[in-house]
Amino acid sequence: MNELQQNSLVSGPAGARLTTESLGVSLVREVGNAGMGIDDVVALWYGEPDMPTPDYICQAVAAFLARGETFYTENFSIDELRQTLSAYMSDLYGRRIDKERAAVTATGMSATNLMQQVLTNPGDNVIISAPIWPNLIETIRIVGGEPRFAWLQFGNQGWSLDLDQMFAMVDGRTRAIMINSPSNPTGWVMSLEDMRAVLDFGRERDIWVLSDEVYARMYYKGRVARSFLEIAEPDDKLVVVNSFSKSWCMTGWRLGWLTRPPALMPTLEKMIEFHYSCPAHFSQVAAVTAVRDGEDFVTETVARYHQARDLVIDRLDAMLNVWAHRPDGAFYAFFAVEGMDDSLESCKDILRQIHVGLAPGAAFGERGEGFIRLCFASTLALLDDAMDRIEPCF
Ligand SMILES: Cc1ncc(COP(=O)(O)O)c(C=O)c1O
Repeated sequence: MNELQQNSLVSGPAGARLTTESLGVSLVREVGNAGMGIDDVVALWYGEPDMPTPDYICQAVAAFLARGETFYTENFSIDELRQTLSAYMSDLYGRRIDKERAAVTATGMSATNLMQQVLTNPGDNVIISAPIWPNLIETIRIVGGEPRFAWLQFGNQGWSLDLDQMFAMVDGRTRAIMINSPSNPTGWVMSLEDMRAVLDFGRERDIWVLSDEVYARMYYKGRVARSFLEIAEPDDKLVVVNSFSKSWCMTGWRLGWLTRPPALMPTLEKMIEFHYSCPAHFSQVAAVTAVRDGEDFVTETVARYHQARDLVIDRLDAMLNVWAHRPDGAFYAFFAVEGMDDSLESCKDILRQIHVGLAPGAAFGERGEGFIRLCFASTLALLDDAMDRIEPCF
């Protein structure tokens, strides 16, 4: 295909570029691709639990499929799943969250994409706490919006967000403030006090709050990280995105959910109908079982990650040129390396030389440069091996 033909694929009728052409590429994926064909890589680059989906979930689904249950469902999921989520969230957050507020989506990622399509018009902007997982940034660009970065600061006490600075970025074209807590990649966790301030600000300025809480259960100081759902009223302009991927080791089932005000219901219902009609039925059945019977599994898994976090941070702390903070949430170490100014090249070098797969900080926004992300959702033995290999590099 020549350049002219290629251009015509991505241009509008008057030659105007469609916004999708300017989407970024994932630098995490770029390192992953560089690792193709290299044997014995200790892969800590992607944000994925190391375990397969637990048996109690798989067995329930096998029996369901054996009965020939392979059909479409309601747009927002089977009623049983929304009921289960309502009971789960109400228990977790200590206040009633009705099933009518839940909408199950084919992945947490598509929940955010759908919300951007509903809320953001070309030329609007969305303020986003960062460094942040790059896919969330691109959900804004994909609809022609402008991401505006409210940068977390890295200091002796770890990561912090200056709310006044963030609020000062808002103007007449701001549609939403997007928060990701616990954060991928930094592990920063927003306090309830700050959540209240963001919610109040949103109410005053008539701006939406989009809260990505997919790591809510990956929290090391209690059962669950603080949530906007604890303090919001049902009609607030708040959407909380969640996922089954991390808490129940279900990345391959591609299922998430969002909690939203009733007023969004008709639009969202249409959006889901025209995107994929409904999430996969067997994944929904898996999710009912996962949530209803999964508390012990989640507790054990988080206890394992807690140990993994401490092993990795202790080892990083002992390295001369590395600055790491012990994260309260998520399952990543996001550490600074003295003198490193090209994290992508560094990660590729580390991969080639010692066969450890890490994610470059630059993938998470420009101020992520100088950092490297390591996913510690892994066994202690594997992490110890990785740290032995990494140590001589820094
Ligand atoms: C912050 C954040 N949000 C959303 C997701 C997407 O999760 P899902 O697997 O449900 O698409 C991820 C996955 O890594 C993530 O890190």
